[in-house]
Amino acid sequence: MVENQTSTQPRRHFIAQCFSGITALTLTPNLFGQFNKPIAQRYHSQPWLELSESAYLHNATQISKMAGGKPVMAVLKNNAYGLGDVQVANMLDGSPQVFGVAVVKDGRATAIRKGGFTKPILLMGDFDEANAQELVEDDIVLSVFSQASLKKIQALAATVQKRIPVALYIDTGLGRMGIPYEETFSIAQSIAKNENLEIVQTFSTLTTPKDFAKEQIQRFNRIIKKLEDQNISYGVKHLAPSYSLLDISDSHQDMVRPGILVYGSFPLAKMDQAQKYPLQVPFRLKALVIRLEKLKPGDTIGFSRFYKVEKDEWIATLPVGWADGYDSGAENGAKVLLGDKLYPVVNVNASHTNVSLGTETDIKVGYVATLIGPDRPEITPEGFANLIDGNNYLQINYKESIPKKTYETF
Ligand SMILES: Cc1ncc(COP(=O)(O)O)c(C=O)c1O
Repeated sequence: MVENQTSTQPRRHFIAQCFSGITALTLTPNLFGQFNKPIAQRYHSQPWLELSESAYLHNATQISKMAGGKPVMAVLKNNAYGLGDVQVANMLDGSPQVFGVAVVKDGRATAIRKGGFTKPILLMGDFDEANAQELVEDDIVLSVFSQASLKKIQALAATVQKRIPVALYIDTGLGRMGIPYEETFSIAQSIAKNENLEIVQTFSTLTTPKDFAKEQIQRFNRIIKKLEDQNISYGVKHLAPSYSLLDISDSHQDMVRPGILVYGSFPLAKMDQAQKYPLQVPFRLKALVIRLEKLKPGDTIGFSRFYKVEKDEWIATLPVGWADGYDSGAENGAKVLLGDKLYPVVNVNASHTNVSLGTETDIKVGYVATLIGPDRPEITPEGFANLIDGNNYLQINYKESIPKKTYETF
């Protein structure tokens, strides 16, 4: 069983099922999420993630406040930025501020539905025909993003017995995905004529430069006006990823569509907003100390012999590396929390990370290290980024196979 979960809500049952087969924790983290004693039988060959439901719910509430009370469509693409899309969706299901979630891969949309999420799921990408029936059965909102995708969805609509909810995905200037905005109206007309299709959402994505984003909003609003004039329903309108929702109130439309903010990070250029709307880091990346050795002057660590030991030094090895999604730049100044102290990272390889514990240490094999989490400013995503001079998007992109544990609260 997963710790600290209430047993009353059915979706928790799903979460518990997801984790059955994974060694259960037997101790509850204290205030700092650390365990004071060595712990037997954990994930000795890989790191794990701990997720806090209360922190995700807090962030959803704060984001809605940032957007003047508008609902939130949480972007869970890339496995919820590496944190577990099924788990994050289930935690957000209970938020009154969360309207639904958005993903890019068809298989993730159906996995989130099968995982127990009850609210709308928007697929912002294409789908494989082999998955089409399942997407329809699972009530996934399919995006019409081109003439070709319209044809594909029309063909699907002719084969199913139920009305398919679709979203008009408009390219107002990002140039990456969506119907070129001049073509949107005729595509919307074709959809409106099809009794098996219903436009439930209309959306686009804003770019970061403010002047151009405003031009995009005007393009979007002109299309909406034309649809309104022709009595074509367009459903819920949304445009704004995190940066735009903080930057331009006109971008809020009917709903906002953030990713990074949900995970407790502000786009770096908008850190000033963090004071006004504090978010919580809703996860911890942890790993066990699996090896501890005293190295001698002249010894080196890593393939490139990057780190040179100058005096007797205890070096801990953690079974986590860049292949797990831990940023390899960590060896340029990041810190790790072990017990109640921070220690410098001195080497990151694909599957292992080394931490220097100094000339004397009380740390033992089996102790738990927190690499990223809310417990110290230095190991939050922003704190970590500041230490290694990186980008706060990078280090929350963990490998899908990392085990996740959900907690009601940390
Ligand atoms: C279409 C779309 N909307 C919203 C987002 C969320 O962006 P952010 O994480 O900057 O809030 C993304 C992320 O890449 C996206 O592709």
